Amino acid sequence: MSISQEIEAKINILELVQRYVPLKKSGANYKGLSPFVQEKTPSFMVSPAKNIAYCFSSRKGGGPIKFLAEIEKIEYREAMQLLAKEAGIELKTDFHKERGSNQTDIFEAYKIAANWYHEELYKSENSEKLAYAQRRGLTEATLQNFQIGYSGDSRGLFALLKSHGMSEKDILESGIFVSPNRDKFFGRLIFPIANFTGHTVGFTGRIIDAGDPKYLNSPASRIFNKSEILYGLHLAKASIMKLGYVIVVEGQMDTVKLHQAGFTNTVGISGTALTKEHIALLRRLTTKIFLCLDMDKAGVNATFSSLDSLLNEEVDCKVIQVEGGKDPDEFIESGGNFTKLIEEAISPVQFFINAGKSRYDLDSVVGKTHVLREALKYVRRMTNRIEIDMSIKYLARSLDISENVVYEELKWVKAPPKKDEPTGMMSLDFWHTLIGYCSAYQLYDLFLASIDYTDEHFEGIPSFDFIRSEILAHLGQSESTDIDSIKALELQVEAENEWTQRDTILLKFSELVKRAQKLMYEHEKQALASSMDQNSIEYMQAHLSLISKGKKLGII
Ligand code: CTP
Ligand code: MN
Repeated sequence: MSISQEIEAKINILELVQRYVPLKKSGANYKGLSPFVQEKTPSFMVSPAKNIAYCFSSRKGGGPIKFLAEIEKIEYREAMQLLAKEAGIELKTDFHKERGSNQTDIFEAYKIAANWYHEELYKSENSEKLAYAQRRGLTEATLQNFQIGYSGDSRGLFALLKSHGMSEKDILESGIFVSPNRDKFFGRLIFPIANFTGHTVGFTGRIIDAGDPKYLNSPASRIFNKSEILYGLHLAKASIMKLGYVIVVEGQMDTVKLHQAGFTNTVGISGTALTKEHIALLRRLTTKIFLCLDMDKAGVNATFSSLDSLLNEEVDCKVIQVEGGKDPDEFIESGGNFTKLIEEAISPVQFFINAGKSRYDLDSVVGKTHVLREALKYVRRMTNRIEIDMSIKYLARSLDISENVVYEELKWVKAPPKKDEPTGMMSLDFWHTLIGYCSAYQLYDLFLASIDYTDEHFEGIPSFDFIRSEILAHLGQSESTDIDSIKALELQVEAENEWTQRDTILLKFSELVKRAQKLMYEHEKQALASSMDQNSIEYMQAHLSLISKGKKLGII
C-alpha cells in the first residue's frame, strides 16, 4: 500500500466531506450540492464504501486527499500532510521544508498568531485594550468564542513563529508582518477570520477608539479572499441550518454582537457586497437570506448590489432595515429589539421602493420608471401568482400608477440573461461509460472477449490511453493510472443503476459493447482506407475479411 492509500484508508470520507457539505443519504451513497460549482441540482456524491467524493458536474473530487486539496485549494501533498496528521501517520516532512513557503505553514502561522493575539489581550500591560473591548459591550464568552485578540508585541510573535521552524521569508510572506519588527496589525484589536472549516486564514484589526484607517485587513492570498469568506460562518453554520435562514451583516462588530445577542445564524461580509461566491457558500446551508447592511449610502449601494447577485439564484431574500442610521451593533447596544426587525423584514421589491424614495424623485416619470423596472426584475422571477399579484398591487400603490401599467411593464422587462452553468449530471463520454461498467460490475472479461484488443485497433480512438491503462490494470500487467477517476466512473454508473437489476445491467452493457464494436469497425475501415492503395489486391482482401468479420459480429 502506498503512503497515500494508507492515509486514505484511515480517513472517513463521509465525516471529512460533511465538514464542508451537508449531505443526504441516497441508497448506499450520499448526495449534496457540489461545493465546486454553483448548482441547484445535487450532482455531488460521496461513497463511504469506495471512500470517494465526486462532483459529476465539474468532475472534481476523488479520494479524501484529492477532495481536501480541491476544496481547500491546497496542493495534493499539503492535503496529504493534513490528513496524515489526522490519521496519526508520521510523514517524512522533508518535502514540506524543501518546498519553502506552503499552505500548511500559512494555516499554522495564522493559528499560532491568533492564539498569541488572544493571549496578549489579557496581559496586564494591555488592560486598557481589554477595557476598550469591554466598553464595546463584548463579553468574556464572546471574546473567547471569536478568539478576539490584541496586537501589542510584534517582535514576540515574530520570534514565536521562528521558533516553530518558519523561515523569515515564510513569515514575511504570511502577510502578518510589514517587517520583522513591525506587525501590520500592531496596536489593533484583532478579529481572526476563519474559513468554512474554522481554520484562521486572515485577520482584520480595528484601531482602538478612533483613527484612520479604522480597519486593516490581511492581504488577499490563496486562502484569504474577501469575496469568498464570510466572517463567523464557521460558528454560524450549524445554527443557520437549524433555523433555516442566515442573517448577513456588514461588519465584524455587527456579527459578533448579533451572535452575543443570540442571533448565532449571523455572518459578516467585511464591508463588501454579497458575491456569487458568498451565495454559493450559503446555499449549501440554506436558501433563505436576510440582508441587514447599514442603511447609509454605502450600505444601501451594497444592498442593491447584493440583491443583484441574489437575483436568479433561487434563494429567498429579505431586507432587514435598521432605522435611525444605526448599524446592528448600535441598534442592539441601544436596547433595540432585533427579533422584531427580523419579523418586519421587507421583500426586495419593497426595498426598491423604500430606497428609491431617497435616491430618485418618485413623482417624476424617470424616477418611477427606473424604480419600477428594477423592482420588476424581481417580480419576474417569482413563481407564486399570489406573490406576483401582491407585488404588483404594492408597486402600483407605492408609485401611484395603475396596476394595468405595472402588468404591461412586467411583460416588457426582459428576462435576465440565462447563465450557462452546469447543473445535474453531465453525460459521460461513451468509452468512459463502458470502462465504468466494466469496472463496476467486473465485466472486463466479457468486454475483452468481444473486442480483439491490440493497441493498433484502438489507436486514434479518444480516451485510448485511459482504456488501455485500465485494461492492462485489469489484466494485472500494470497499476491503474488513476484510481480516483475509475472509482468516480464506477460511482456514476452505479448511481445511474441504483435500482436496476443485474439482468438489465447486462443488457445495457451488451448494447454498449455492440456500439463499441461498431465504432471499432468503422475505425478499422477508415484506417484501412487511408493506409492502403484502394485499388490494390491487398486492400480488397483486407476489406473483404473486415466485412466478413463485421458480419460475424452482426454489426453490418
Ligand atoms: N471595513 C474595512 N476597512 C475600513 C472600514 C471598514 O475593511 N477602512 C470593513 C470592516 O470589515 C468593517 C466593515 O467594513 O467591519 C463595516 O465598516 P464600518 O461600518 O465602518 O465599521 P463597523 O462595523 O461599524 O465597526 P465599528 O462598530 O467598530 O465602528
Ligand atoms: Mn459599528
